[in-house]
Amino acid sequence: MFPAGFSLESLQRRHPRSAFDCGHSEVNDWLRTKAVQNQEKRLSATKVLFDREGGIAGFYTLVTSQVDFGDLPSELARKLPRRALPVTILEWLGVSTVRQGQKLGDLLLAQSLRDCHEAGQTFAFVAVILDCVDERAKAFYQRWDFAELPGSPFRLFLRSQTLSALLTPR
Ligand SMILES: CC(C)(COP(=O)(O)OP(=O)(O)OC[C@H]1O[C@@H](n2cnc3c(N)ncnc32)[C@H](O)[C@@H]1OP(=O)(O)O)[C@@H](O)C(=O)NCCC(=O)NCCS
Repeated sequence: MFPAGFSLESLQRRHPRSAFDCGHSEVNDWLRTKAVQNQEKRLSATKVLFDREGGIAGFYTLVTSQVDFGDLPSELARKLPRRALPVTILEWLGVSTVRQGQKLGDLLLAQSLRDCHEAGQTFAFVAVILDCVDERAKAFYQRWDFAELPGSPFRLFLRSQTLSALLTPR
């Protein structure tokens, strides 16, 4: 999993997040100024990865949401009811610039998908969706099995069945 000495924790107000820098201002701003408030209001769940020195190496935020039946690709929507459908959204993910290129982004993404899969055993959803902040982020995610939602080039999805197949031991 994560490198020895690193630890993943639920975000707390006491965590030192004001200096976090992943090189993208919107992502930084989320962790520095909004993530705790949203977590305390139970709107989102953020997990923070600490390095051996206690610095924030990276983080991710998950939220639950709904998408309209018509927003899903037909092959996914075909057998589903024509109404708002439950989804999980990987809303934010960032790795500190000084830690980039050490596979932490991949490890955090894998852990966030594991969290979704485990939550899905209790609260079902039809897909994991993520919003890419830019083309670079999209290229990072597309190395996995995420596909574009029709008409939303920066919104990617992964079907729940695909997620289960990826994470269920054979
Ligand atoms: C995107 C981001 C999370 C990647 O984190 P990272 O820890 O540097 O990535 P990793 O070291 O895990 O990279 C794993 C692989 O992805 C590749 N990769 C990393 N960033 C990539 C990008 N933008 N496009 C394509 N591939 C990318 C790496 O080359 C590596 O490939 P390899 O396995 O063939 O060597 C990080 O650059 C970041 O925080 N960016 C700013 C915030 C952001 O864009 N967040 C995502 C949207 S909210």
